[in-house]
Amino acid sequence: MNEPHAPTLVLGTAMWGWTISPPTCFDLLDHFYQEGFREVDSATNYPINKKPEDFRKAEAILQEWIQVNNIQDLKVMMKVGSINNLRTPENNLSKSFLLILLDEYGNLFGPNLDTLMIHWDNRSEENEIRESLEALKIAQEAGLRAGLSGIKHPEIYARINEAIGLKFRIQIKHNVLYSDYPRYESLHGRAGFIPYGINAGGIKLDPKAYNESSSLKARGGNTEEEHPIAAPLRAILGQANQIKGRPAVSNFNHCGMAFAFHSPDVEGILLGASRVSQLAESIGFYRALSTYGYLDLYQSLNSLKNKFTP
Ligand SMILES: NC(=O)c1ccc[n+]([C@@H]2O[C@H](COP(=O)([O-])OP(=O)(O)OC[C@H]3O[C@@H](n4cnc5c(N)ncnc54)[C@H](OP(=O)(O)O)[C@@H]3O)[C@@H](O)[C@H]2O)c1
Repeated sequence: MNEPHAPTLVLGTAMWGWTISPPTCFDLLDHFYQEGFREVDSATNYPINKKPEDFRKAEAILQEWIQVNNIQDLKVMMKVGSINNLRTPENNLSKSFLLILLDEYGNLFGPNLDTLMIHWDNRSEENEIRESLEALKIAQEAGLRAGLSGIKHPEIYARINEAIGLKFRIQIKHNVLYSDYPRYESLHGRAGFIPYGINAGGIKLDPKAYNESSSLKARGGNTEEEHPIAAPLRAILGQANQIKGRPAVSNFNHCGMAFAFHSPDVEGILLGASRVSQLAESIGFYRALSTYGYLDLYQSLNSLKNKFTP
């Protein structure tokens, strides 16, 4: 089967200024850009490390790199609405605030601003949601793309949008353990989905691969024991690697990438690389996915996922 549109890669910034130092962020951007990729994802509240002094730090690093290198052709996806980086659900999605942010990020990123994305919405009140979408409509008329992330009631968004006509890009947590995709059923076939968390926050098949600076540890995950999905995954990898003539699949990151790449409606894959070697490895495997077929692997991973999260 031919892929209608291969998803592109999007560089994530959630850990920038937290577990990833500013010089490493610059190295990641240098490498990603030199490899020909342009899409970068950020959010006002990155890094979400609960340190008020770090609010907007990730975007500041990105802006600095853009300025230093006089970049004009990046595609920055900004997730907006959060008013702190404390992991609380407090946010402001009023039309006036979104328009202030449209202005703010238009000034800060200039031609590099590509997507304005609503970040987390638990509301069900239709008039309030309509107002937020009207702000995204103004952004779309100004040449930006409109995005959604962490929406509790996508069906309300889908209904209101029938009269507004936005083409959404939607970030979803989507990996071999868990997926938000079914929750967005009302927008299936009508939006471009962008999976994040493809490594489930940094899971490794072999617990010996964790160390003190592992991001799973910083995020409060279990780095002591092998994850229950590791053994069935190794069996699937063994099977996939029986097929010769294509690069071998060897780690959890490969599984996450293959799963996202072949999933329906996916237009981009978010990479949360911590260092350039990881980014280079992910780009290498992305090129393998774009060149060879790994649908067999996707199908096995999907069956396994359904067993873990029926
Ligand atoms: N819309 C939303 O609500 C939302 C939520 C979360 C994230 N995001 C976006 O998505 C991006 C990625 O999210 P995430 O950090 O949660 O993703 P993730 O892919 O689940 O986890 C990233 C971690 O996986 C490991 N990893 C990455 N590439 C690897 C490789 N090639 N080989 C081995 N391990 C690798 C690294 O862990 P170690 O450092 O321990 O090696 C890295 O910190 C974020 O930066 C952010 O831009 C959006």
